[in-house]
Amino acid sequence: MFSRSGVSERTFIAIKPDGVQRHLVGEIVRRFERKGFKLVGAVCCVQASEELLKEHYIDLRDRPFYGRLVKYMSSGPVVAMVWQGLDVVRMARTMIGETNPAESKPGTIRGDFCIEVGKNVIHGSDSVESAQKEISLWFHPEELMCWEDAAERWIYE
Ligand code: CDP
Ligand code: MG
Repeated sequence: MFSRSGVSERTFIAIKPDGVQRHLVGEIVRRFERKGFKLVGAVCCVQASEELLKEHYIDLRDRPFYGRLVKYMSSGPVVAMVWQGLDVVRMARTMIGETNPAESKPGTIRGDFCIEVGKNVIHGSDSVESAQKEISLWFHPEELMCWEDAAERWIYE
């Protein structure tokens, strides 16, 4: 059961400064926890440097909002996390909703808790490859904990 391929997939999730300011940390963690995913790394309330954020969003460097985005992300603490589970990258994106909260369905995090694209409360990796890159950017390997979740036999077939 536990050796099933895909169960060890990981994604990088960050609660953005507006999410922290708006007291959504508990609510967001709760959603991933209740879904059945496993929290394997967390840095609570880290003030990310502009250097780290520029690298994190490097693929968007030519977009007009890049500078504003880096400023927004460094405007306060963020909560950086690594969640693990079957197909977690794709499922987390579904739970998060669309980039623009106005296009996000109710029931998704962005659909429920925010209004504008420039204050969309949460980040989630968009592919397994970017998840690996983002995790190594935000965490040292020894900060990630591989623990046995006793509930796993009730989550996976
Ligand atoms: O976060 P996501 O992967 O859904 O979207 P993205 O296209 O990778 O853009 C990264 C972030 O840039 C978004 O989450 C927004 O915070 C910001 N953004 C923005 O401020 N204005 C836009 N028109 C598009 C994105
Ligand atoms: Mg993205």
